[in-house]
Amino acid sequence: MTHPEILLKQVPLFRSLPLDESRRLAALLQKRTLKKGDVLFRKGDEGTALYMILSGKIKIVRQSRDGDEAILALLTSGDFCGEMSLLDDLPRSADAVAIEETQLYGLNRKDFLVYVLNNETAVRSILGALSRRLRKADDFLEDIFFLNVPARLAKKLIELAESGGFKENPSATIELTVTQRELAGMVGATRESVNKALRTFREKKLISLSGNTLQIHDVDALRKKIR
Ligand code: CMP
Repeated sequence: MTHPEILLKQVPLFRSLPLDESRRLAALLQKRTLKKGDVLFRKGDEGTALYMILSGKIKIVRQSRDGDEAILALLTSGDFCGEMSLLDDLPRSADAVAIEETQLYGLNRKDFLVYVLNNETAVRSILGALSRRLRKADDFLEDIFFLNVPARLAKKLIELAESGGFKENPSATIELTVTQRELAGMVGATRESVNKALRTFREKKLISLSGNTLQIHDVDALRKKIR
């Protein structure tokens, strides 16, 4: 079995800790496994722990009253979540839900505050990650202001492909299992407008759709849509 201090090397937040520090930290962590659909926490909950993802995928979402989802982020191996409410003492800012089986480590609030915030490397990592998130949120705002739905959708499909959201299949097309509802939630558009854009992409043979499986056939042509 792999020791937690070795697994911690997979987590960028703690990658540069010396081994003895990793060992001390590893002793404080609690491992959890979530099944697909399990809720890690809900918006408004009290923040009791920080979570580091070892494998699997977590979506960070805000829900409308009608049950529509705005997907703020998809987090995968090496990412962390739940730090905001520990840092600002406010309730959880969004829901965190597993979209496939996910293994993670939890670090409780007290240990986070005592151990992590007194470790310069970890503080730098957290600040770096928060800055990157803000940049991404700014980029997304810019897209909402200046790009239409087809352009935002093309951009998101390429981003998912590049970040490994797609599985390479034998015919070298890129495949993604995602619902149109989730895509709409990721680009900040209605399901109807995403549906319409997908139909156009399909007619132009840039993609194909079968059930929830979407295949990209022509990444370069998709890229040209981002104008
Ligand atoms: P917290 O507010 O404790 O609970 C929800 C978590 O979702 C939050 O901490 C962050 O870890 C994470 N989160 C919120 N907004 C974003 C975002 N825009 N991008 C990535 N992660 C986010």
